[in-house]
Amino acid sequence: MVVDHFDITVPRGAIYGFLGPNGSGKTTTIRMLCGLLLADAGEDTCLSFDVRKQASEIKKQVGYITQKFSLYEDLSICENLDFVARIYGVKKRKDRATKILADLGLADRARQLAGTLLGGWKQRLALVARLIHDPKLLLDELTAGVDLKARGDFWDEALHLSKAGVTVLVSTHYIDEAIQCDFITYIAYGKKLIDGLATSILIPAGLTT
Ligand SMILES: Nc1ncnc2c1ncn2[C@@H]1O[C@H](COP(=O)(O)OP(=O)(O)OP(=O)(O)O)[C@@H](O)[C@H]1O
Ligand SMILES: [Mg+2]
Repeated sequence: MVVDHFDITVPRGAIYGFLGPNGSGKTTTIRMLCGLLLADAGEDTCLSFDVRKQASEIKKQVGYITQKFSLYEDLSICENLDFVARIYGVKKRKDRATKILADLGLADRARQLAGTLLGGWKQRLALVARLIHDPKLLLDELTAGVDLKARGDFWDEALHLSKAGVTVLVSTHYIDEAIQCDFITYIAYGKKLIDGLATSILIPAGLTT
C-alpha cells in the first residue's frame, strides 16, 4: 500500500488540514478512512466506527467532496440533490434541498444542468450535495480550477459546520487555507512527517499569510 504506518487523530468538530505533495497519499488515506478502500494492515475508527467492519455505517455519516466532480452532469442541480437525498433516505427532501440551496447561494440556479456550471459553482453544488444528509464528517479534496470566491464560501461553511460540531477534514496545497485549520498533518511519500496545532507548526516555520 502506498500509505505506510500513517495515523492521525482528528478531534470531533475540528477543522483538520491534510497537506502534502501530489501523489503523497492524501486521497488514498481519505478513501481508507471512510471505508472506500481497505488497508492491507492496521486498525482505525472513524466516527467511533471500525473502518474495517462498519464501513456502511461510516458512509451514512460522511460527506465526501472528491477531487473530480462526481455528480450527474446531465441532471439539474435540484435533480442531483433529490437523487442524493433519496440514496441517503433524507426526510422532507424538498424542504431540506430548498434550505441548503438558499444557504449556499444556489437557489437561482436550481434548474440549471450541472454540466453547464463553471468550476466554482460546480464546487458549491458538490458541497451542497455532500451536506444534504447532515453528515457528521465532511471530507473535502481541493477541486482544481475553483475560484477564490467559491473557495472562500467553502471556508465560511466549514467554519459554520465546525461550530455546529461537524468535523471537517480538508486536503489542500495552500498555506492560506492550512492556517485556517485547527490542526494539520503533512504527509510525504505515504508517511506522516508532522502533525499538530496549525499555529504551532505553521507560524514557527514562517508559513503564514
Ligand atoms: N491501492 C494502491 N496501490 C498502489 N498504489 C496506489 C494505490 N492507490 C493509489 N496509489 C498510488 O499512490 C500514489 C498516491 O496517490 P494519492 O492519490 O493518494 O495522492 P494525493 O496525495 O491525493 O495526491 P494529489 O495531491 O495529487 O491529489 C499515487 O501515485 C497513486 O497512483
Ligand atoms: Mg488526491
